[in-house]
Amino acid sequence: MTILLLGSGGREHALAWKIAQSPKVSHLYIAPGNAGTREVGENIALKANDFEGIRRFVLDKGIDMVVVGPEDPLVNGIYDFFRDDADLCRIPVIGPSRAGAQLEGSKDFAKAFMQRHGIPTAAYRTFTAESVEEGLAFLKTLQAPYVLKADGLCAGKGVLILPTLEEAESTLKDMLGVAAANVSPSEGDRGASPMFGQASARVVIEEFLSGIECSVFVLTDGCHYQILPEAKDYKRIGEGDTGLNTGGMGSVSPVPFADAAWMQKVEERIIRPTVEGLAAESLDYKGFIFFGLINCGGDPKVIEYNCRMGDPETETVMLRLKSDLVELLEGVAAGDLDRREVVFDERAAVCVMLVSGGYPGSYQKGFPITGIDAVEGSVVFHAGTALDADGRVVTAGGRVIAVSSYGKDKAEALAKSFAEAQKIRFEGKYFRRDIGQDL
Ligand code: AMP
Ligand code: GLY
Repeated sequence: MTILLLGSGGREHALAWKIAQSPKVSHLYIAPGNAGTREVGENIALKANDFEGIRRFVLDKGIDMVVVGPEDPLVNGIYDFFRDDADLCRIPVIGPSRAGAQLEGSKDFAKAFMQRHGIPTAAYRTFTAESVEEGLAFLKTLQAPYVLKADGLCAGKGVLILPTLEEAESTLKDMLGVAAANVSPSEGDRGASPMFGQASARVVIEEFLSGIECSVFVLTDGCHYQILPEAKDYKRIGEGDTGLNTGGMGSVSPVPFADAAWMQKVEERIIRPTVEGLAAESLDYKGFIFFGLINCGGDPKVIEYNCRMGDPETETVMLRLKSDLVELLEGVAAGDLDRREVVFDERAAVCVMLVSGGYPGSYQKGFPITGIDAVEGSVVFHAGTALDADGRVVTAGGRVIAVSSYGKDKAEALAKSFAEAQKIRFEGKYFRRDIGQDL
């Protein structure tokens, strides 16, 4: 079969690497892909949000399945676009409908969904510019630190955690676009634009939860589900989890506290009610569900849902998935996922992300990358790379390359990734040397 994968990051290179190993696949296209994905498939100069361009390409090439990497096209309704088109409707899209993608596209929707289905999560309330006074009063009832979340998609930047009540109050006003000196519940007092535009026209304020986080992934056909290997990611730029948030500096799988007993709680209290809740509410969902969980004294709670795989978790999860991914995706499309088998690799897998100097602040692009060919025994996934006019691989993003490795345990896998990471060179290269050390 012929598959089109949408996206261009490390997650997509890892998905492409795994899809390309399937004997079922005769041709894999990646749109737009990066300098790494062209090694396992054919890159196509199409953006993941160009639905009309994708339509023409899919019909022209006789594509049999579309796999969606990032959240944007899903929240924008690519599943619905295919379903509602007479020529495209027979071609399965792996990813939820626009309505199902609201689990990620609207924090307020996700929180209300969890409340309706008794799924454990932090207590919360949602506010708009009209209800800012109530929001300020609600903040006073909470303990520091304060968690404020823009309702809509913000490319991972919409969650702010504030240490003091004063900072939380002024941030709430900024997020809602209410002029600080002029707060009044009446109309017409909005003096500024919301910090994240429409995405923060509504703000979720929630209880702060403390514990270690863990990402759990499932595939669902809308009725059945299969649980994939779990992983933990490292979000901060600095060692010891300090400094600014990034798109992810590394990941490890398995996660020691996610043992059989803990995963049973996750399945019973979170995964099953989520899949059943989607079905009960007729939310069309055939794809990945990413449960961002936190371990609160042995009990899992949901921090967030995403409607796609994680990045950089996919760069370890795909190493630990022994089964043919395409066989599972066919089960998603056919609705018989319960009859497909998920086998985990018993080894540990880790990924260490090499990033551009200055990231997540401003950084330069276009530096040549050398040494990739010298890497032995690890898998190199490209995240932000491109080919320059001379055909050289150059840096093209903040997160540049993920070095993924197996080991008999986490320590062995990490030692391998750190050693191989030294061989890859580009100006300003930085990576965290403490990935996995906290577990
Ligand atoms: P999100 O975009 O929802 O994943 O949030 C980004 C990060 O903020 C999460 O990975 C957590 O580290 C943190 N976070 C979000 N919500 C909470 C919460 N209620 N309590 C503590 N930390 C949180
Ligand atoms: N690693 C977190 C995410 O993909 O959102």
